[in-house]
Amino acid sequence: MSSTVRVHLKGVVDNSYDIVIGTSLRQALRDIANDFRDASKFIITDSNVKSHYGGIFNNKLFRILTVPAGERSKDRKTKEYLEDRLLSLRADRNSLIIALGGGVIGDLAGFVAATFMRGIPYIQIPTTLLAQVDSSIGGKVAINHPLGKNLIGAFYQPKKVYIDTGTLKTLPEKEFPNGMAEVIKYGAILDIQLFNFLEKNHKQILKRDRSSLTRIIKRCCQLKKMIVHQDERETGLRRILNFGHTVGHAIEALSNYRIGHGEAIAMGMVAEAKLSYALGMINYDDITRLSRLLQAYGLPITIPSRFTLKQLLRATLHDKKIKQGTVQYTLLEKIGKAKVGVQLTLKEVEQHLNR
Ligand SMILES: NC(=O)c1ccc[n+]([C@@H]2O[C@H](COP(=O)([O-])OP(=O)(O)OC[C@H]3O[C@@H](n4cnc5c(N)ncnc54)[C@H](O)[C@@H]3O)[C@@H](O)[C@H]2O)c1
Repeated sequence: MSSTVRVHLKGVVDNSYDIVIGTSLRQALRDIANDFRDASKFIITDSNVKSHYGGIFNNKLFRILTVPAGERSKDRKTKEYLEDRLLSLRADRNSLIIALGGGVIGDLAGFVAATFMRGIPYIQIPTTLLAQVDSSIGGKVAINHPLGKNLIGAFYQPKKVYIDTGTLKTLPEKEFPNGMAEVIKYGAILDIQLFNFLEKNHKQILKRDRSSLTRIIKRCCQLKKMIVHQDERETGLRRILNFGHTVGHAIEALSNYRIGHGEAIAMGMVAEAKLSYALGMINYDDITRLSRLLQAYGLPITIPSRFTLKQLLRATLHDKKIKQGTVQYTLLEKIGKAKVGVQLTLKEVEQHLNR
């Protein structure tokens, strides 16, 4: 049975929407066909997701537009290709875009929807763990620029999010830890009970037991909704989600993106927990607990020695969270609680992490 988490976003316009968790792709399809009866409907997906699930959507009510799988598709060329296709297929202001895939598709299709004819509605159907717990919720959509990731984007909320946890069965082994790193992050910064659950149930979760996965995905959606609700445009509290990401992004960049996002964030979380400890904010036991949990899910905790601390810290300067020569960190106060906007100079971070 499915359950619903509502994201309330009532500003000048009402951008609220439902996240339906535990539905099936077929049911989502029926709901969309009903709710958007008069709209022409375009599914944007990637080659891998299409090969697994394209058959379900092979229906005359939906047009499928497919792009190659992978981060490279989150670029201007692919965005143009999709816009050209939409125009040639006579999409108009009443059309609907459905993003079916992982975070790449969600970000790309959402960004196309945000600007096509000054914005048309879109729906997210996330199919990776990362997209189900994180990227499909909150309305951050973007494409990459050769100078950096996500440099061209918008805040643009979907009309609905449908999560079929069954799609995680076909997710390749190497993709699962990317999502788990984010799930562990939610526990570490916001919810000790989630953290405890992840500790106790790692065997079932790693086997992708559907009821455990549904439970943690629902909890993560609730937590993300709570944050987005209070800070839709990332001016304050939403930065809490950056825990592990300042050092993590630096590791990703230094490795030329050969180290996966989840692995880099895991190492980043441990480094930032060490920083929290050095600043007297947490106990050493908290670092140990966090490290053990990450390792239980097959995530690395030690930054490769080929990256020096100096190189790493210089790379944090490319992050968007820099303010007047200081880097803003989200640090831990204890497991389940974090503090945003801790401003530290490179020298301070170097001294603390060198100990
Ligand atoms: N908008 C946000 O708030 C936000 C947050 C975090 C990350 N992101 C973005 O998300 C992207 C990463 O997302 P991702 O990790 O989901 O990667 P992804 O979309 O590239 O998916 C990973 C791989 O899994 C395949 N795949 C997807 N679902 C599948 C399924 N059910 N079965 C089999 N294969 C499947 C894809 O084809 C791809 O090869 C990055 O571009 C990142 O910047 C955005």
